[in-house]
Amino acid sequence: MTGYQAIYQRYKQQILSGNLKPGEKVPAIRVLAADLGVAKKTVETAYNILIGEGYLVSKGARGTQVNPDLQLNIARVAISTPVEDSKLQQLIDLRDNPGFFRLGIPSLDEFPYKKWLLLSGKAIRAMRPEQMLTPPVMGHPPLREAIANYVNISRGLNCNASQICITSGYKHSIALILQALATRQDKVVFEDPGYFFGQKLLKRIVENLHYVPVDRQGLNIGYLLQHHQDTRFVITSPAHHSPLAVTLSLPRRQQLLDWAQNQRAWIIEDDYDGEFHYTKKVLPALKSQDAADRVIYVGTFSKTIMPAMRISYIVLPKALINRFHETAEIVETSLPLLPQQILSRFIAEGHFFKHLKKMRTLYQARRQMVLNALQQVYPTQFYVELTDGGMHIVAFLTSGSQDEQLAEIWQQHRLLVFPLSVWYAGNSKRYGLVIGYTNIKSEQEAIDALRLPYQQTIALLGG
Ligand SMILES: Cc1ncc(COP(=O)(O)O)c(C=O)c1O
Repeated sequence: MTGYQAIYQRYKQQILSGNLKPGEKVPAIRVLAADLGVAKKTVETAYNILIGEGYLVSKGARGTQVNPDLQLNIARVAISTPVEDSKLQQLIDLRDNPGFFRLGIPSLDEFPYKKWLLLSGKAIRAMRPEQMLTPPVMGHPPLREAIANYVNISRGLNCNASQICITSGYKHSIALILQALATRQDKVVFEDPGYFFGQKLLKRIVENLHYVPVDRQGLNIGYLLQHHQDTRFVITSPAHHSPLAVTLSLPRRQQLLDWAQNQRAWIIEDDYDGEFHYTKKVLPALKSQDAADRVIYVGTFSKTIMPAMRISYIVLPKALINRFHETAEIVETSLPLLPQQILSRFIAEGHFFKHLKKMRTLYQARRQMVLNALQQVYPTQFYVELTDGGMHIVAFLTSGSQDEQLAEIWQQHRLLVFPLSVWYAGNSKRYGLVIGYTNIKSEQEAIDALRLPYQQTIALLGG
């Protein structure tokens, strides 16, 4: 097919498949003709047929567009999920719904819009032509510097900018670390229970994957030493375990670091929400005690600013910098520069520290609101083992193991809680609901929300 027929067919197909939507503008005749290298008459003929058949309408000086009145039945393609992963997949799907008690997100009403807008303008105005080329593979140097300063002060690390590698989120960080360092036979240990994205990713990319249980003092290091002494990578969240929110105890931290040093193993520290600690006790990162440089620290701005920004970072042991640089150059394209520039100004000008301080106070208050509301609406059905920080609570069931059924009921009322038992890989499970509190604005709002599934909850758990 040549000439006007080819253009006609392309447009018809794009419109029928829903890629071009009713009301969307199509290019002017002379622009498309120049773009395709054909005569204007050829494009004009195709457009006239499409107009005649009702796919396009001409709006005179305002150009030509897809007919806004077009009614199309576009078939949606269903994406299937393997059965064994369907429970984890449900958790993942749930993350993107609007509703109450959503897990793992910052207070969206507190995003510093004005400051961000100001810094965006500044960053765009300051952009030089050479910055329009591919950005550096390990990240924008001023951002790497700002992050190094921040983690040194706030999380007790002792690193410099050359150790920072900017990534686009947890999965990117973990995959990059394993790609740079792991061989196919290497044993990798993950926490049980553990972050659902971590489980899914590791199941896919690691052949020799094992789990170590987590109790009230965090990862059970005794179990690790007894059963998986020969592990090469341990991936753990010591500040506030995901999802139990417990903190790895001091003796266990030392035990873990000693083991890694003797074994020449790597600890991947996922410090995703270490900023939000509410007691007076200072809680430095595990990496801050890492005299032998065996900890690869992974941080993110998803909890402190917003997940949509997709900026996270790895703090590398010094011995790994070159290897990482080499791997990143082969397997990565670097991240977009502009968000990195805005963020580096946000940190370097001191706004990040102020924002964190405000959020810490706010989250502590919001956590209390949800705890009070839970106690008021369901005084006997749940108990909470209050931890020192984090962005969610776990409401354990006082009796029974029906957390999946219960979560389903609550989700029907738009309470986006997660059943705890689904996060476990092994059979030794606890049962409860994982509840985010960062976007609850008052105790009354929490009470009203918790009352929505009241009848069904009492019917299931008893009064
Ligand atoms: C346990 C855990 N680790 C890391 C992250 C960071 O995720 P990302 O940086 O990909 O947004 C999250 C976010 O939900 C998390 O829950």
